[in-house]
Amino acid sequence: MLVKLAVLFSGNGSNLENLLKTLHQKSFNGVKFEIVLCLCNKKHAFGIQRAKKYGFETKIIEHNHFATREEFDSLLVSEIKKSGADLTILAGFMRILSPIFTQNISAINVHPSLLPLFKGANAIKESFQSDMKIAGVSVHWVSDELDGGKIIAQKAFEKGTLTYEEFESKIHTLEYELLPQSIIGLFSDTSRYDLKPMLKNT
Ligand code: GRF
Repeated sequence: MLVKLAVLFSGNGSNLENLLKTLHQKSFNGVKFEIVLCLCNKKHAFGIQRAKKYGFETKIIEHNHFATREEFDSLLVSEIKKSGADLTILAGFMRILSPIFTQNISAINVHPSLLPLFKGANAIKESFQSDMKIAGVSVHWVSDELDGGKIIAQKAFEKGTLTYEEFESKIHTLEYELLPQSIIGLFSDTSRYDLKPMLKNT
């Protein structure tokens, strides 16, 4: 089986690069993954250079050129559908998505906290500063609620005496493990996950 992926990002793009390195054109348990679309809403994002290293020309759609969230989301939807992607990955895509997107695209997101704690853009800082003894990362389905869709997988660690820099780096290391593992898992273990919503674009 061939699974086509679209990856949306806004900035650094290290998760995008990790997916290009670990999943693109690779097979796991009889499933081959192909990234068919890299899409970004910021024309100077560093991730665009990362994608180039792998031969990808990133599709740039700048959200500030649109009068409404819905108009921007409609174009995202049509680009993703055009690409033929079976599943869309939000890898640091810093936009709140309207139902135009969430009801038409099967997408998952990687988030740098143990959801449902620390939703939103400051998750790493908030989770570091909290008095919780553990922290972690989550991969979840994208729904109408920001960072609120059903959780697919999580990894946790003890904060111990980590400095902020060490903490942040640990979060990213776990994201690089969990996101590809989750994608592979979704297509390997059809008894655990309902694949229907994600295959509706095919
Ligand atoms: C990651 O920490 C991800 O969890 C969050 O945004 C960050 C993106 O990092 N949603 P990068 O652009 O993949 O380096």
